Amino acid sequence: MESLPVPSVQAMVAATGGADVPSRYLRPEAAADAVAVAGEDQIPIIDYQRLLLDHGEESARLHRVCQDWGFFQLINHSVPDDVVEGMKANIQQFFQFPAEVKKQFTQERGQLEGYGQLFVVSEDQKLDWADMLYLYTQPPEDRNLRFWPDQPANFKSTLDKYSAAVKDIADTLLATMAQSLGLEPKVISDTCVGGIQSVRMNYYPPCAQANKVVGFSPHSDSDLLTLVLQVNHVQGLQIKRNGSWFPVKPLEGAFVVNVGDILEIFTNGRYRSIEHRAVINPNEERLSVAAFHSPHIHAMIGPLKEIVVHEDEAYKRVDHEDFMKLFFSAKLEGKSFLDRMKLKSS
Ligand code: OGA
Ligand code: NI
Repeated sequence: MESLPVPSVQAMVAATGGADVPSRYLRPEAAADAVAVAGEDQIPIIDYQRLLLDHGEESARLHRVCQDWGFFQLINHSVPDDVVEGMKANIQQFFQFPAEVKKQFTQERGQLEGYGQLFVVSEDQKLDWADMLYLYTQPPEDRNLRFWPDQPANFKSTLDKYSAAVKDIADTLLATMAQSLGLEPKVISDTCVGGIQSVRMNYYPPCAQANKVVGFSPHSDSDLLTLVLQVNHVQGLQIKRNGSWFPVKPLEGAFVVNVGDILEIFTNGRYRSIEHRAVINPNEERLSVAAFHSPHIHAMIGPLKEIVVHEDEAYKRVDHEDFMKLFFSAKLEGKSFLDRMKLKSS
């Protein structure tokens, strides 16, 4: 589980003015894909407060959305405004620090955590036009504070509060989904006690040749549930829908939530993880923060026994640690990782 070191895109852009794109970042395939015309259509919206008070209506909607879209926006959530605003401000400040400051948190050989890039597994691989800071946030004993920035001064305390509040939402959503799937909530909740949460802060510099680069290669997330917060107003997230890329227009303060590969596997395909990517803006930087939620490390990753009573298992059963190693040892290529977890239909 390791990424090869790559230069910081932000530093490279600062040094060169950003007009010339080095060939390792040129992605001619990206511009060839169809993008859905930005119409009125939007990904569905789920109201968290209604879900909590609900007697079935909002949770039934959530269930349908997880089957039909795999993506939704969560409004009226429970993370306090000051924590959300604190996270945004800290992330923006962190990426504005001089390269020498950020370098102190650079990923170390053989580790995923820290400042740099993930999924870089060969020297000749094409690279994403982005820098990131990746940290394990839950369970608290898994934190490696060596990679947690000590400035801005409240970075650690804000991330600590954010992490707990967001995990609470993910746990609640998963318990609701379990019920809609006809399961006892604990069937999923038990795997989330001591569940792993990691946080990935993304920085996408502008690029004069924005349509020739990719901010985040097409992929599906490996986890159960991801909650993404837009840190500034610049859009860039696109999801694959009906064969073309569908731009997401985040609502102020909302989380963009998506089903990950493990939830697809747990539900034996009832819920689908959706391929998504991030594109680059020609003039403005874009920042986002994703919180990934996975079961605890000793959980088995496979279709839940309670789901496959009357049907064949469509996915392999893999130890969680092996699953993670496999995920991080390949470059991102759409849903190809999940395809390798599928059992051939006989
Ligand atoms: C991710 C991701 C998209 C974004 O971090 O997995 O898909 O909008 N991020 O930055
Ligand atoms: Ni993602």
